[in-house]
Amino acid sequence: MALTLLRPSLAVSLALLLTLLAGPASAQGKTGQVTVFWGRHKDEGSLRSACDSGLYTMVIMSFLDVYGTTPTTYNLDLSGHSVAGMNAATKRCQFLGVPVSISIGGFGSGYSLPTNQSALALFDHLWNTYFGGNLTSALRPFGDAWLDGVDMFLEHATAAEHYDTLAVELSKHNIRAGDGKLLHLTAATHCKFPDDRVKEALDTGIFERIHVRFYDDPDCAAGFRGDEWGRWTNAYPFTKIYVGVPASPQAAASGYMDPATLRRAVLPVAQKASNYGGVMVWDRYFDKRSNYSGAIKNWV
Ligand SMILES: *[C@@H]1O[C@H](CO)[C@@H](O)[C@H](O)[C@H]1NC(C)=O
Ligand SMILES: *[C@@H]1O[C@H](CO)[C@@H](O)[C@H](O)[C@H]1NC(C)=O
Ligand SMILES: *[C@@H]1O[C@H](CO)[C@@H](O)[C@H](O)[C@H]1NC(C)=O
Repeated sequence: MALTLLRPSLAVSLALLLTLLAGPASAQGKTGQVTVFWGRHKDEGSLRSACDSGLYTMVIMSFLDVYGTTPTTYNLDLSGHSVAGMNAATKRCQFLGVPVSISIGGFGSGYSLPTNQSALALFDHLWNTYFGGNLTSALRPFGDAWLDGVDMFLEHATAAEHYDTLAVELSKHNIRAGDGKLLHLTAATHCKFPDDRVKEALDTGIFERIHVRFYDDPDCAAGFRGDEWGRWTNAYPFTKIYVGVPASPQAAASGYMDPATLRRAVLPVAQKASNYGGVMVWDRYFDKRSNYSGAIKNWV
């Protein structure tokens, strides 16, 4: 039925009805999603206890902080946490419905992806060491536990590097059927859009989530910024965007917002975006002491 055949008043009320129907669907509202980073402090408790707390819907282990070197070496730095028990801990988290990802990059200087070849080599390393690969010579620190995702946390990188190649290769192994599994591809960016360290990779459009770090950055000295939030959410409509926050004033040099501010001033703004994903809390060590995520859980 063509609108032109309707009486004008009916056409107007039909248009109004359609607007009303479309309205609520365009705002995301709460998702209940809280991502936490784990692995930066030995005395933050185990991965298992982080998952058992019931506070988180994703845990990101950090960091795989050496790769892309010549000769090729890789290093997983978990701040002295023992890898004994990580196999069972990972499976426990997965049993509770909490995916466990591994983050590459971090604050060290030992990583880069200067060539496509180095990106593909890193993919092979990740796949065979932490995912579904079965190269018999690979040392698997977590045994047969198959992780759930890869996160890019790049403090130094340039457009000349090949994180886009890595992203594409990882997405080919996002196995949604059969014996395989979903591979959550995520990134933790600086707050100001765009973040050139990871832009090439994000522009593939295949990332599932971006955690925007509204802290530790002169551009976001006061924490969340609605203008930058708008830029991130508009730029990647098919990616879920998360509000990244420090769990206490000690967790970051700048950008801390108390739970009440987050609830009142930030989340209502962020949740207007249809691709609002949730909140990312940095990190488990500080969150365990402050109970920040406990205080915001019902509002995310
Ligand atoms: C690197 O790989 C990407 C994606 O596979 C490709 O588009 C690009 O041309 C490659 N670059 C070089 C220098 O080989
Ligand atoms: C190893 O993995 C490859 C590719 O996924 C598969 O074709 C092969 O059957 C596997 N081999 C074993 C021994 O599991
Ligand atoms: C964390 O805060 C929540 C909400 O106030 C509270 O229910 C919970 O008991 C707290 N947990 C701890 C360990 O203090």
